[in-house]
Amino acid sequence: MIDLTGKVAIVTGGASGIGRGICLVLAEQGASVVPTDLNLEGAQSVASEVAALGRPSAALRIDVTDRSSVEDVVSQTISEHGRVDILINDAGVVGAPGWQDRENPTDADWDYVLAVNLRGVVICSEAVASHMKERRYGKIVNIASIAARQGGTDIPHYNASKAAVVSWTQSNALQLAPYNVNVNAICPGLLWTPMWEGIARKRSASGFDPSLAASSTGSTREYFEKTVEAWIPMKKEQTPEDVGKLAAFLVSDDAHNITGQAVNVDGGRRMN
Ligand SMILES: NC(=O)c1ccc[n+]([C@@H]2O[C@H](COP(=O)([O-])OP(=O)(O)OC[C@H]3O[C@@H](n4cnc5c(N)ncnc54)[C@H](O)[C@@H]3O)[C@@H](O)[C@H]2O)c1
Repeated sequence: MIDLTGKVAIVTGGASGIGRGICLVLAEQGASVVPTDLNLEGAQSVASEVAALGRPSAALRIDVTDRSSVEDVVSQTISEHGRVDILINDAGVVGAPGWQDRENPTDADWDYVLAVNLRGVVICSEAVASHMKERRYGKIVNIASIAARQGGTDIPHYNASKAAVVSWTQSNALQLAPYNVNVNAICPGLLWTPMWEGIARKRSASGFDPSLAASSTGSTREYFEKTVEAWIPMKKEQTPEDVGKLAAFLVSDDAHNITGQAVNVDGGRRMN
């Protein structure tokens, strides 16, 4: 039984998809959760769901690419809750606005993806590091992807950003290990979120894999389901709750000797 009672967690990307799922699972295990996102309204709605579980929660706006925005969130959380025990770096993108309609990534897509997915993770982790080091306690989980495990042709900038997150996870784990701070990554598989809806739109329009073309309805959901069937050995999609449950374990004291790891939650798609 994982017990996060009394722990204080910041979750970036907490307004949607996987981030929302992580917020709810951490709260169910007893943590006070601060959902943070560029989309403040969405984060506030998740904070209401967390509050309904009996955990007081207030959302904060964050732009993970902007160091001063991130430092504001960390200091507001410390002044309101007294400390930050847990950081979940979930915020992520596949490209600059409009990426779903471009066949190949542009310079702007590369820059945007690396700024959010890689630099955003580094900026947020650096913003909590001195506080966690002083307390000699902290748990950081970075949401990477199975895209980190294998290159690909249609979103190579995204694959590269996620491989870099796994590398950063190892470096940051070594930097913070002497201070009793654990840093791990999770590599989710295929989850039906707004992000994957965009990937389905892009891939079905570009004929990325003709065998996956949605036949009858042409819907993005159907494209996603065909991808799950073709790619996932266990033949089932992954859910935000699946990722949240692993995150809850990794940030618990039960996982005190696990650091620098990247764990796939993907029904067997990748085994490295
Ligand atoms: N959906 C999948 O199948 C899948 C698989 C593997 C990994 N992931 C990763 O999981 C994470 C969450 O993805 P999701 O599918 O839930 O996507 P999503 O689009 O539903 O959620 C991403 C959230 O990040 C927020 N965000 C984007 N840029 C931000 C910024 N600069 N600052 C703060 N917040 C920002 C968005 O507003 C959004 O709420 C991402 O890192 C993604 O790469 C997703």
